[in-house]
Amino acid sequence: CGIVGYIGNGSAQEVLLNGLERLEYRGYDSAGVYVVDAEGQQGHLFREEGRIAKLESEVDMNLEAHTGIGHTRWATHGEPSVRNAHPHQSTTGRFTLVHNGVIENYNEIKESILSGVTFHSDTDTEVAVNLIEHYALTDGLDAEAAFLKALNVIEGSYAFALIDSEEPGVVFAAKNKSPLLIGKGTDFNTIVSDAMASIDLTDQYVEIHDGEIVILTEENVTIKNLKGETVERDAYTAQLDASDLDKGTYPFYMIKEIDEQPAVLRRIIQEYQDEAGQLTVDQEILDAITASDRIYIIGAGTSMHAGLVGKNIIESLVGIPTEVHVASEFAYNIPVLSKNPFFIYLTQSGETADSRQVLVQTNKLGYKSLTITNVKGSTLSREADYTLLLNAGPEIAVASTKAYTGQIAVMAVLAEALRKDLGFEAKFDMKHELSIIANAIQVLIDEKDHVHALATDMFTDKRNAFYIGRGMDYEVSREAALKVKEISYIQAEGFAAGELKHGTISLIEDGTPVIGIITQANTAAHSRGNIEETRSRGAKTLVISMKGLDREGDDIVLPKVESLLSPLVSVIPTQLLAYYASLDRGLDVDKPRNLAKSVTVE
Ligand code: G6P
Repeated sequence: CGIVGYIGNGSAQEVLLNGLERLEYRGYDSAGVYVVDAEGQQGHLFREEGRIAKLESEVDMNLEAHTGIGHTRWATHGEPSVRNAHPHQSTTGRFTLVHNGVIENYNEIKESILSGVTFHSDTDTEVAVNLIEHYALTDGLDAEAAFLKALNVIEGSYAFALIDSEEPGVVFAAKNKSPLLIGKGTDFNTIVSDAMASIDLTDQYVEIHDGEIVILTEENVTIKNLKGETVERDAYTAQLDASDLDKGTYPFYMIKEIDEQPAVLRRIIQEYQDEAGQLTVDQEILDAITASDRIYIIGAGTSMHAGLVGKNIIESLVGIPTEVHVASEFAYNIPVLSKNPFFIYLTQSGETADSRQVLVQTNKLGYKSLTITNVKGSTLSREADYTLLLNAGPEIAVASTKAYTGQIAVMAVLAEALRKDLGFEAKFDMKHELSIIANAIQVLIDEKDHVHALATDMFTDKRNAFYIGRGMDYEVSREAALKVKEISYIQAEGFAAGELKHGTISLIEDGTPVIGIITQANTAAHSRGNIEETRSRGAKTLVISMKGLDREGDDIVLPKVESLLSPLVSVIPTQLLAYYASLDRGLDVDKPRNLAKSVTVE
């Protein structure tokens, strides 16, 4: 979900709607704004199911309003509908609240303290706003004190922005676990869940810590801790270029981001060089890792898939045992750990609640950690001991592409720096190979039209598909299948090629699409055999092979690159296949149903 709040002398509706559009990739099943008009000091609430564009057509732009809060939602409690859309109001209409996160004890609060209240939505947020009103009315507290008292009762994750219609010149805010930032301007202030939302207005942002309460007016920003003491904190400059947020001439962000991958790779090579032109990372990180006996890579979705490749690279170059875990599984079922574990968190956004929950626990246990992320200053970056940035520029399409290749490249740089630090002999020139790969990716991107034709041929009218490979090709198959699932809704499975015959092959029917990936010399023959097994049972096959291992009739031949790094190139046609499958179906490629770019609830 996304939050924008504004107080200043500009048009609140304009700022809120612009901001929400920027945050739309974080959730888009419903949206709303609440503004206070300057003349009558009256509140106006607008809410719509669906996209921001729909809300835009409903909001009265003629109202003169300079204060407001807005929200774009990714449903947790309650189906997507106008009634469940934020902002939510208290029974008398005095308080209006937007919320990201999940309140864990909302049912208890509803049944005890608020037992007499009638609710109009299925959301936990409506419970929170009524709790604030309850303390204001029954204890005679002002908004700040009532808010504070409610925060002491509420358990769970939240980012809140609140308006009390009796104090229309103030916006209140607070956070716990969910991201929220203050944007500072000269005659305005914003409260946003992501700096992107108000980057066209200001690049000055102030962090809010868990357990703090924020009081915003047009002129001032006050941060207080739960004891009511004022906290001083400097603003930092957000490194976001508003022009990066533009699609330019591209029809969708996803294809723009696919196209950016050679540049991202070159930037990573550039950013991680020392003066002598050698790939390097901070010595402190290397020391912490070499002092450990095992690496645990934690991530969700595509980031977890990048981890699977990273594990292979790290183990192959430096032999440190490395495990990859799904964050949401690890958090509450921590396996037996080694004596000196080191944790690597992979997260494009740096905000994924599932991953953060693991970090909170490993921090408590005192284990060292590194976050590899695309977002400087993000929650996981701040809370881990070390950070390595992808420098990939904002990734907006829900389906992750350049962050996957960026994460693999940064892990390759890290593995290379570890190798040198440990004095192991080089098997290949990492920097040179990465730049060859940047070129190879470009070659594949230039063959887009060919891949489009293949996608149309493979996926038209198909309901399911299989991606198969062995070793590294299996890791890529899993990511390839996720991509096509996410945006085209074709049910796809990434499968270990050799395992197919032990059960899953029974799903192969006449015309079932099977995409085989072949980049590893030691498994090429077997993988080919496995693809043949599906073909002889009626599958419609597509073979992606690497030059040198290719055979006549293969559909896509990848330029030859170092086999340990092959996922960086083999994934590219699979990203394009997914993109065109979605495009051919006329879907909104960037905003697939039910999903959101950054999921800040567990
Ligand atoms: C969401 C997105 C996925 C993404 C995952 C992890 O579920 O829809 O595309 O891979 O979160 O996100 P992160 O920001 O932690 O990499």
